[in-house]
Amino acid sequence: MLKNFELKINGNLYKVKAYENEPLLWVIRERLRLTGTKFGCGIGVCGACSLLVEGKVQRSCVFPAKEAVGKSIITIEGLPPNHPLKRAWIEVQTPQCGYCQPGQIMEAYALLLENPKPTREEVVKRLSYHICRCGTYNRILKAVERAVGGFRS
Ligand code: FES
Ligand code: FES
Repeated sequence: MLKNFELKINGNLYKVKAYENEPLLWVIRERLRLTGTKFGCGIGVCGACSLLVEGKVQRSCVFPAKEAVGKSIITIEGLPPNHPLKRAWIEVQTPQCGYCQPGQIMEAYALLLENPKPTREEVVKRLSYHICRCGTYNRILKAVERAVGGFRS
């Protein structure tokens, strides 16, 4: 049975009907049409569906929407176009097919909230939980390095 939910996404309040245990990914993509967040594996492994709930990265394909009620959700659409990460991604021409990139950017965004000047190793470790079938890993690192003005040594 569908239930009413209120979700705060990128600072806006959305009223939406969804199933009791519906994953947040389906609610934001299929019901609210915020399609920047991608569906990859659906089992919490690839990272394509990553977004932030209360400042922490969650894999929205396995995160029930009901657990996000009353919390702040940030998706790739919530980062302004001139955000340093988005600008760096464009300047480095990071994506190939682009499919994994919103999840990669959201993971990098969460990392920089916790640690604004990471080392290269910290970024590699954090992003190693994301799969890019196009192998853009080096360009992703370059883009993060550019966004933070160089890694901490
Ligand atoms: S689609 Fe969620 S982790 Fe792969
Ligand atoms: S750019 Fe194609 S999957 Fe990463």
